[in-house]
Formats: sequence, structure tokens, C-alpha cells
Amino acid sequence: MSLLAVTDLRVEFGRRRTAVLDGVSFTLEPGQRLGLVGASGSGKTVLASAIMGLLPDNARVAGTIVFEDHELTTLPERAFAALRGRDLTMVFQEPMTALDPTMRVGRQAAELIGLHRDTSTGATRARVEQIFARMGLDQASRVADAYPHELSGGQRQRVIIAMALLNSPALVICDEPTTALDATVQARVLDLLNEELAAVNAACLFISHDLGLVSGICTDVAVLYRGQIVETGQAGAVLRAPRHPYTQGLLATADIDAVPAGERLPVIEDFLPADECGVT
Ligand SMILES: Nc1ncnc2c1ncn2[C@@H]1O[C@H](COP(=O)(O)OP(=O)(O)OP(=O)(O)O)[C@@H](O)[C@H]1O
Ligand SMILES: [Mg+2]
Repeated sequence: MSLLAVTDLRVEFGRRRTAVLDGVSFTLEPGQRLGLVGASGSGKTVLASAIMGLLPDNARVAGTIVFEDHELTTLPERAFAALRGRDLTMVFQEPMTALDPTMRVGRQAAELIGLHRDTSTGATRARVEQIFARMGLDQASRVADAYPHELSGGQRQRVIIAMALLNSPALVICDEPTTALDATVQARVLDLLNEELAAVNAACLFISHDLGLVSGICTDVAVLYRGQIVETGQAGAVLRAPRHPYTQGLLATADIDAVPAGERLPVIEDFLPADECGVT
């Protein structure tokens, strides 16, 4: 049995008849890191929210999401709350919404352990400082005593990633976890994330626009296009020899250096059949 098995997942919102996710299926094994790439609006965050049980009330869900031995689409919220933050964690696309501005970050992290584990205060604090230090936060004790607004964007994002790893989860979902960071900080944070995931053999669903970024961290890649997975495979193979026109387009537009001076950068539509671009 896989750690996570998503089967024929379909999500619609409100009265809209078009599905935002339309028959999405994939599995994840322990230690596997799947990069999920796709354009803005392709359904990446909706998929992450569906797995985390965080879709709004107006969402209609069909299909199954089996995590460990739980069927998540029908799991009662009480049971879900025991999984979230422990076995199943998420690094959100917007870091500020993930932290409580009125509470010191060390206490927020400690509460996360307290919710899911029986640990004495001293041991809890030590664990928080340990994971902060492992995420490359210098002076972990001072960081733990800070409020979110007293930290830099890079420090905040490291705190959030540390919190997602705190309880040695089986699966971590990262939704564009480093978009807000500059390139050098981004590379360092991803290295640390990689190391920590490997240390606990956690699986990861890593969402990004950036195929290059994904290839550095993921074992496998799935390409989401208009709510459907159009291509999936080992990261190296997909990058070397993309089969779907959309993936070819993504790669070509990502490789700006490959465009000869004076020539126009290709756009996704260049790689799609005419009927898909509204050209008649
Ligand atoms: N609560 C909602 N109600 C109605 N439609 C929604 C809701 N949430 C998302 N959608 C729609 O679902 C589609 C997919 O959105 P989603 O946020 O998953 O995109 P994304 O791939 O994460 O994009 P981005 O790269 O910009 O983060 C969009 O068309 C969006 O408008
Ligand atoms: Mg998104």
C-alpha cells in the first residue's frame, strides 16, 4: 500500500460546472519527492488543500485520497486534526498567514508539539531550538523568542519549514515554499529541507512554477495542466525528454539563455494545438 494514493480526484466549486481538478491520480511512497508543476490557476493549491482537508465549504469533491490507512475525503474533522501537523504537514504559499502575529514563534512551534506529543516543557523547547538550528537559523534561542514581525522574510520561512518538520511527518506538502526568498537564501533553504526530509524518510509533494527548482529537489515530476496531470515520470527523464507539448513549452520558456538575441521568447501557446489557443 502506498503512503498516499490519490485516485480520480475531481474538485468543483460552487455552481461552476467546470472541474478545477479533473480526474487526478498519483501515488507517493515514503521518501519519494514529487514535484508538481503547472501554470498559475492549473489547480496546484487546490490539490494541496484537498489532501490537507482544507478546501472551503463550497467545494465538491469526488474520488478518493487515501493516506496511510485513512480515507481523507470522508475523514471527520476531529480525526483529521490529529493527523494535520503531525503525520501530514504543509508549508503554505503565503508565509505570513501561517504564523500568529501575536505569539512568539518558539511558543507557536512548542504548541505544535504539545498538541501531538506528550513532552515536558524543557524537552519541547530543546527540540524547537534544535530544529530551528538545523534549518540554519543562527541564534536559535533568540529566534524562538521573537515575534513573526521581528524576523526577516527568510527567517520566517525557515521557521515555517522547521515547524512543518518538527513532528517528523510522513508527508510534507510544500506550496511554492521559497518564492518569497532571494536566490541564495532559496538554495540554502532547499538544501536544508532536502536534508531534513531525507533524515526522517518523509515523502514530499513539492509545488512550484519552476521546473529547474523541482529537478534539484524531487525524484519525480507531475505536470498539471488545466486540472489534469498530463505528464509524469522521473524528474531527470521529464526534463531531458518532455513528451507533452505543455511540458515542452514550460521548459522552453524557462530556459531564457537558449533564446538567440533578437528573437521572441516562445510562449506556451506556441506548443499547443491551435484549437486549444482559441485560434480558429
Ligand atoms: N475557493 C475557491 N472558489 C472558487 N474557485 C476557486 C477557489 N479556489 C481556487 N479556485 C479556482 O481553482 C483554480 C485553480 O486554483 P489554484 O489556486 O489551485 O491554482 P494554482 O495552480 O495554485 O495557481 P498559482 O500558481 O497561481 O498559485 C483557479 O481557476 C481558481 O480560480
Ligand atoms: Mg497556488
